[in-house]
Amino acid sequence: MRDKDLKFNSKTIHGGQRPDKAYGAVMPPIYQTSTYAQSTPGGHKGYEYSRSANPTRTALENSLASIENGNYGLAFASGLAAMDAVIKLLNPGDEVISTNDLYGGSYRLFKKVFEKFGITFHFVGMQNIDEIEKRINTNTKLIWVETPTNPMMNIIDIKAVSRLAKKIIFFWRSIIPLRPPIYKDLWI
Ligand SMILES: Cc1ncc(COP(=O)(O)O)c(C=O)c1O
Repeated sequence: MRDKDLKFNSKTIHGGQRPDKAYGAVMPPIYQTSTYAQSTPGGHKGYEYSRSANPTRTALENSLASIENGNYGLAFASGLAAMDAVIKLLNPGDEVISTNDLYGGSYRLFKKVFEKFGITFHFVGMQNIDEIEKRINTNTKLIWVETPTNPMMNIIDIKAVSRLAKKIIFFWRSIIPLRPPIYKDLWI
């Protein structure tokens, strides 16, 4: 049965999983290893060093992608590690819009670590989509949503934010016939 035909409960167990290539284990074993043999430099079976990729982590990533009906999943050791990786996709001059009751650790990562690299962060009441729209300009590269918020448990409408982001991209696309470099990563 194809993955996308599985129902949610089955996906949580089997989604994105294939029998392990070594001995056919149905559930992926935990690979507690760091380095993988290479027949020639770069000649390996998909894994060379566990920091960059590890079969157990791949199994988790595929499982999460399946549950979320996505094509890819990426797993990190913590939420802030994932955020750190995402923010590093930005460049000096880029702007980010997020919520004004952001989790303290996320707020400090933005303000104390990344602001000094020339990234500007705006914090608005994200339950009101108009507040987000008001802050969007040509430097906006990321709208960062955490919901429910911690600790206030406010709910942000992910679909509405996503619709707004797509509307803005569509708008820029219609008025600027050539792709503006600022949106090159976002272009759909
Ligand atoms: C809303 C929110 N964002 C980010 C984080 C950071 O996650 P981590 O502690 O795994 O780095 C937390 C942690 O509680 C959180 O509640």
